[in-house]
This record gives sequence, C-alpha cells and structure tokens, in this order.
Amino acid sequence: MKIAMGCDHAAVEYKNQIRDLLRAQGHEVTDVGIEAGEKADYPDIAEKVGGLVAGGTAEKGILICGTGVGMSIAANKVNGIRAAVVSEAYSAKLCRQHNDANILCFGQRVVGIEVALELVKVFLETEHEGGRHAGRVEKIMAIEGRQE
Ligand code: RB5
Repeated sequence: MKIAMGCDHAAVEYKNQIRDLLRAQGHEVTDVGIEAGEKADYPDIAEKVGGLVAGGTAEKGILICGTGVGMSIAANKVNGIRAAVVSEAYSAKLCRQHNDANILCFGQRVVGIEVALELVKVFLETEHEGGRHAGRVEKIMAIEGRQE
C-alpha cells in the first residue's frame, strides 16, 4: 500500500520505527518528516500528508504528534480527508469500517509502542463496510461543499 507518514518533534521515534516496519513489510512509505533534532509545527506536517492522501499519491496516511489531537484537527481541514485520532484498537477498526477514515492519528505521549503498532496494523488491514455507513460518509464529505 502507498502510505504517507509524518510527525512533529514529539513523535520522531514512533514515526521512524513504524515507517521502517511498514517498509520492511513491503509498503511504499512517503515520509514527509521530521527527523530527530528538527522541530515542526504539526499543522504543517498534517497539511503535507493530507495533501498526499487527498491528491491520491498515497492511499492512507499516518500522523503522529504528542497526542494525535493537533494532527487530526489540522488534517481534517484538508478537503477529502477523514482523519481519526485513536488510542485503542476498537476505534482503529471502527474508524475504517464505519467512517472510512483515510488518515490515522495517535500520540507518542499517549500510547505505548505496542499499542501504536496494533493501531497501525488494524487501521491498514480493515476495509470500509459501505452499506448503511456509505451514506453517512457521503454526508460528512458534503459538509465541505457547504463551507465558504
Ligand atoms: C507539541 O508539543 C504538541 O503540542 C504536539 O505534539 C501535539 O500533541 C498537538 O496536538
């Protein structure tokens, strides 16, 4: 799968570890940064990853900051993005099945690495269920068209 990833200075360790694992598994990962020793404002990183996903360069995105909250708020400002901040596997699964989330967000200060790896695995392996959920997702996206 083509995956775009990014983090701010609060989450470089997880971003690199997860990027390397996903590449070892055969995924094509675009890493927009940042690297150790650098600093970044999470909206800048979220906009980059959001743009790659919304534009179709990447199928899914993963954004990690201290909590995942700032990344998710910022990514959801990009048209076409449905970013979900989660900290347990059930929500990682349901955000795909019900909400068709296309970006996963979480916080390096919130979840341990084993949970983080589980969130990524579940998010990437779970398909959207469609059906009764499809119309709700369409309604989410229709909100974009009603904004000034
Ligand atoms: C950076 O200190 C922190 O604010 C950021 O990583 C994130 O948690 C914001 O939501």
